[in-house]
Amino acid sequence: MHGRTVWCDQWTPRRARRVEEDHHEHRRQKTVVVTGAARGIGEGIALRLAKDGHHVVVADLGVMESDLHQTAKAINDAGGTATAVVADVTDEASVTSLVAAAAEAGDGLDAFVANAGIAQVEALLDYDLADFQKILDVNITGVFLSYRAAAKQFIAQGTPGKIIGAASIVAFRPFAYLGPYSATKWAVRGLTQAAAMEWAEYGITVNAYGPGIVGTAMWDLIDEKLAARDGLQKGEALAENAKSILLGRVSVPNDVAQLVSFLAGPDSDYITGQTILVDGGIQFS
Ligand SMILES: NC(=O)c1ccc[n+]([C@@H]2O[C@H](COP(=O)([O-])OP(=O)(O)OC[C@H]3O[C@@H](n4cnc5c(N)ncnc54)[C@H](O)[C@@H]3O)[C@@H](O)[C@H]2O)c1
Repeated sequence: MHGRTVWCDQWTPRRARRVEEDHHEHRRQKTVVVTGAARGIGEGIALRLAKDGHHVVVADLGVMESDLHQTAKAINDAGGTATAVVADVTDEASVTSLVAAAAEAGDGLDAFVANAGIAQVEALLDYDLADFQKILDVNITGVFLSYRAAAKQFIAQGTPGKIIGAASIVAFRPFAYLGPYSATKWAVRGLTQAAAMEWAEYGITVNAYGPGIVGTAMWDLIDEKLAARDGLQKGEALAENAKSILLGRVSVPNDVAQLVSFLAGPDSDYITGQTILVDGGIQFS
């Protein structure tokens, strides 16, 4: 907690205890979970939160285990603290164990970043029902299970906590051919607002971040599929979409990580229920 002022005009035992608690709070390393942390934005968020001094519990699917351990190793090699946990956000038991493992690995849980998500480029008329259900499963059921497990943990601990979800610019204005994806991100924005309403009484804040166009594997896929649709060369669909970025460059994971660092830290204590865009100025909220 930066620059917290303790007025000492009237020294009382209660005040002395508060100062002691503040010191303890200063010293205690906070524990944060980041899902989808094997690569891309999640990896960037994990690296940044570790740099902020947090114990970062990085989680991803079993198929990503080797990349996940790479993320944890990069953090530990840089002098930070990380624990890697294989977890599938669509599986309730897996998310429950992830939260329990994080609370056990650290000194309780302080923040949860529900970052895991998938994208699919397809016209609505051709969208397969199983694919539709799959994207709902990861992008919204996964966020619901993550938010709820984190909130239950904070409530059991009797501590405040920060819950942060991955939305997108498409939570404000969909992209054509990313219809179901856009709908899930719109739903993350709604769930974030409802959770903020229900959990404020426990001292839990719930916010989401809305990246624009970030040069990760997800955009490689979007670029490839849009290119195939429109007969473009590799990179052309990305370049075309990037023209709408006021700040004139495609985003990198650290742009998003900086916002998440703020949302996970004390400077955002009075913010809840918001979906904050970090898109270089594509969309105004
Ligand atoms: N890349 C962008 O331009 C962009 C823009 C807006 C929002 N986002 C959102 O940011 C988040 C991260 O995106 P990214 O670009 O880094 O994507 P990415 O595909 O590079 O990484 C996503 C990670 O999530 C993991 N994941 C997928 N399903 C999972 C599951 N069921 N359980 C646990 N982990 C799972 C993947 O294995 C992968 O490591 C996503 O929610 C995405 O929708 C990305």
